Amino acid sequence: MNNSRNKDFEFDKETIERNCEDFYSLYNGIRGEVHDMCERKKAHTREVAKNCRMIAEKMGLGEYDCDLAWVIGMLHDFARFGQAVRTHSFVDNERFDHAKLGARLLFTHHLADDIIPGYDRICETDRLVMEKAVYHHSDYSLPEDLSERESLFSRIIRDADKLDIFRVVVINGPERIYGCSLEELLKTDISPEIEKAFYEHRPADYRERVTKADFLMAHIALFFGLEETISRQRAKEQGYLGKMMDIEFAVPSVQKKYLGMKEQILKR
Ligand SMILES: [Fe+2]
Repeated sequence: MNNSRNKDFEFDKETIERNCEDFYSLYNGIRGEVHDMCERKKAHTREVAKNCRMIAEKMGLGEYDCDLAWVIGMLHDFARFGQAVRTHSFVDNERFDHAKLGARLLFTHHLADDIIPGYDRICETDRLVMEKAVYHHSDYSLPEDLSERESLFSRIIRDADKLDIFRVVVINGPERIYGCSLEELLKTDISPEIEKAFYEHRPADYRERVTKADFLMAHIALFFGLEETISRQRAKEQGYLGKMMDIEFAVPSVQKKYLGMKEQILKR
């Protein structure tokens, strides 16, 4: 898909990267756990941006659109840093929803203008594409009133984000992500609502997580939320999802339940 409205515009990716680094450097003085949280988000952002470009390229989008996807990836988690400092957590709630706040910071308070050279030359349509993609990137599902282009780029960022969550879970391990050892996690049960999501081939609702196992299973269930075929292929090739699923629950009845759920992933 080519966007003729912006055919003369080229994203200055080097400057955008530098400007993002400048923004992150605001958080450089922080120490301890919050510092580690910010470092993880920086790495996550870069990987998500790469994933966005990879998906856009494999979908056959033009150079400008591939860059646009990459930029959305670079911007999508801007509010995570403030969230880490203020709440010491990445759990969203009504008062602090990182996607909504990020979109506000970038597009209402004009931070995007500072980050992207020539921002005012980007057509209104694509500014809205960026804003809506950031705003909706962590919603359970996308609203129906998006334009085709808004929906396309929202799907790309949402897939790219999920693909990197598999990496983050494996690289950081259960202690960091779930606050307990894998052994402890595998002694817990899987709640019926989480199990149901697997049989309905949809992501689990995070609000329905009760046990430690639910947290891991809800991450695995993100696979069902991958919209593009290329993203599902990539998730399988990456190997992280396979590692997450290479587990055995301590209680035989839970293990049996788990194997049924795993089968649903393998079928997709
Ligand atoms: Fe996010």
